[in-house]
Amino acid sequence: MNCCVFGLQWGDEGKGKIVDILSGSSDIVVRYNGGANAGHTVVIGENSFALHLLPSGAVRPGTICVISNAVVIDPDVLLEEILSLAEKNISLKERLFISENAHLVLDYHKREDRLREASLGSNKIGTTIRGIGPCCADKVGRSFALRVGDLRDLNKLRAKLKSIVDYKNKLFSALFGAEPVSAGPIYEKCKAYAGKLLPFIIDTTEFLHKSIAEEKSILFEGAQGTLLDIDHGTFPYVTSSNSSSLGMPSGCGIPAKMVDKFLGVAKAYTTRVGAGPFPTEQDNEVGQYIRVEGGEYGTTTGRARRCGWFDAVAVKYSATIGSVNSIALMHLDTLAGLKELKICYEYKMDDRNSSFFPANIDRLSQAECIYETLPGWGEQISEVRDFNDLPANARNYVCRIEEHIGKPVTMIGVGPKRSQTIMR
Ligand code: GDP
Ligand code: IMO
Ligand code: MG
Repeated sequence: MNCCVFGLQWGDEGKGKIVDILSGSSDIVVRYNGGANAGHTVVIGENSFALHLLPSGAVRPGTICVISNAVVIDPDVLLEEILSLAEKNISLKERLFISENAHLVLDYHKREDRLREASLGSNKIGTTIRGIGPCCADKVGRSFALRVGDLRDLNKLRAKLKSIVDYKNKLFSALFGAEPVSAGPIYEKCKAYAGKLLPFIIDTTEFLHKSIAEEKSILFEGAQGTLLDIDHGTFPYVTSSNSSSLGMPSGCGIPAKMVDKFLGVAKAYTTRVGAGPFPTEQDNEVGQYIRVEGGEYGTTTGRARRCGWFDAVAVKYSATIGSVNSIALMHLDTLAGLKELKICYEYKMDDRNSSFFPANIDRLSQAECIYETLPGWGEQISEVRDFNDLPANARNYVCRIEEHIGKPVTMIGVGPKRSQTIMR
């Protein structure tokens, strides 16, 4: 069975936890988009892992891990991640495969990200400053890009790097009045990356097709969420990759029809980090309650996440374009203690009600939320493992979400640990 797990909101839905659970019955886990902007948390017993580039299956010894073409790889972050798992006696030797065609995020990308955001002032996107946008721009621009496979021929890489750094320095100086960077130290770092990463580099498309022919079960792991998708999200307040499930086929070279199941992950409320419209945002005591109870601070940047009510219009859109079969609804435990809960099921725009999410932010920012109000529950539910043992109001809340989205909720998160999950 092949399954694609991806986010239905603006990221941080709990994908890492779901991928960790499902990787127990998968042979291979594949990260298909994004880069070190992602932060996927896996909690096993007393150990908490924050994974940025490795697929969340990495924490299970024996699971094969693949980083596919569309992932942009910062080797500093990747090597640190490999090292930190090794310190916990988790080895990736002979079970990590990195696409030769994935692009490299280098120091000048992170610098460009920082300079560009700083220059935008109040118009900034609020990126993670992980160099994602500049690296993806270089990839699409083609002439000034380096890929993982370029680490195989260091002489060629040195010449290419020189032309890239010359070009970047002109940009840095002209646009930002910034000091030039020097190609020498970046080349030395690339040499070190090559020494460490070459054993992992392969043609991952060939490997994955062979694995499918051998009937291996593959789990595809998306980063970010559908509403941050470069083509289908709330542009320009998005990331630079196709972070919906639509990015999976192009990101790995695997047709969507080879995937048996698309599992969308959503929180039982909504969060967002960085700038951009957020119709159900509660910049008040409700938002603060959710932030504190849910520990809503970024895994990658530590920023406080913006919090708000569940937006069924947005999630239904993500489920529709993402071909979702079922939903994992996370953080239901966080809502315990709120007297009333609201679900937004329609937007009022241009004097009419619509339940189709407008990804265009000029229209989205006009949207007025139409809410259904439901009674909350007071009991803590972190120890509940059977849906029928949940308080009636919690069951009702989940069922109303299912009705609004028109898809079944098959997994429910009631805490960060692997075991704190209700399977339906
Ligand atoms: P991801 O980027 O989608 O993998 O999500 P993050 O790891 O960035 O953020 C999710 C956070 O919620 C992490 O700290 C998880 O440990 C935690 N988490 C996941 N599922 C649940 C849940 O059902 N309840 C609670 N309380 N925490 C959860
Ligand atoms: P995971 O995989 C939440 C957001 C940033 C910013 C926008 C663009 O953990 O769910 P970028 O650095 O990508 O250019 O930033 O996208 N963003 C995320 N928000 N979770 C993520 O990843 C994110 N990755 C990027 O906050 O608003
Ligand atoms: Mg995250």
